[in-house]
Amino acid sequence: MLPFEQGLIDMPSENVLVMRPIDSFGLHIFPASTVLEQGFKPINKALMQSGFNVEPRVEAQFELALVHLTRSKVESLGNIARAARMTDGFVLVNGAKTDGIESVLKRLKKIVAVEAVISKSHGKVFWFKAVTLPDWEDAAAMAENPAGFLTAAGMFSSEKIDQGSARLLPYLDGLKGKGADLGAGWGWLSKQVLALPDVAKLELYEADFKALEAAKINAADPRAVFHWADVTALPKPEKPFDFVVSNPPFHQSRKAEPELGKAFIKTAASLIKPKGRFLMVANRQLPYEATMEQYFKRWTVLEQDGQFKVFEATHPRK
Ligand SMILES: C[S@@+](CC[C@H](N)C(=O)[O-])C[C@H]1O[C@@H](n2cnc3c(N)ncnc32)[C@H](O)[C@@H]1O
Repeated sequence: MLPFEQGLIDMPSENVLVMRPIDSFGLHIFPASTVLEQGFKPINKALMQSGFNVEPRVEAQFELALVHLTRSKVESLGNIARAARMTDGFVLVNGAKTDGIESVLKRLKKIVAVEAVISKSHGKVFWFKAVTLPDWEDAAAMAENPAGFLTAAGMFSSEKIDQGSARLLPYLDGLKGKGADLGAGWGWLSKQVLALPDVAKLELYEADFKALEAAKINAADPRAVFHWADVTALPKPEKPFDFVVSNPPFHQSRKAEPELGKAFIKTAASLIKPKGRFLMVANRQLPYEATMEQYFKRWTVLEQDGQFKVFEATHPRK
């Protein structure tokens, strides 16, 4: 907000884009018509509920754009190049040191005339007049990863099959009927479930818009249904599920957040039939046992080693 508060840039009266804001802090200084791009469902929903105009993916022309860095440099450079393509005036880039703002600034300085840089606390904001940037958009676009699946930078485990998800593979045999994958990512685990002949339907729930778009291709199947959704806020289904599989997220920021996994366990319990099966893998150090006990009458650890543990639970408590 400093460049505007200090009068260093004039705020256009409309046609402003803000990419990847994580909350509504400071957004009040932008014109009411400002478009926010945020593909992570819980944040998208919170911004929408605060009255903002927010889309998971934007393609339009603007007078000014502000890009917030994400934790993936390739994704951030792609966003900056896309913002520059969609903007006629200034592109501002804002980020924390821990998100790599220094190295992004260095890259940009080699190519464009950076108008100014403001540093404060552990972050920086800088801006430049929009120009065509290198092919960073292509580098950030969906492409086949070394394992043969479509992914893009910024998605969970975009380069390789996640070891945690892979731990569930030996236990999938025998799953049948209607199931759900909570936090389905770009769809590797779902694809393995859909390879089972007795699975009649699989509902994939994923908060990351882009990852879900990838899953639609990686796990394409007439039995698959794709939901861009926040698993921690799912309504109770009309008909309960025969099984749920999940490799829940354990952080949104840099630190472990077991509360997220606990909320996934609660949702799984609310989805399955009394004799339904819930299979979940987690990092070994995460304390999910008490939550399993809270929401399921029967649960067991099928396997554990130094890195992961695999849970099976049945008989959700009412
Ligand atoms: C550990 S990964 C699961 C990977 C996936 N099952 C696979 O086979 O590659 C967890 C996933 O949960 C998603 N996620 C995080 N918070 C979420 C939420 N509140 N609702 C739904 N999905 C969420 C993340 O975007 C991530 O894709």
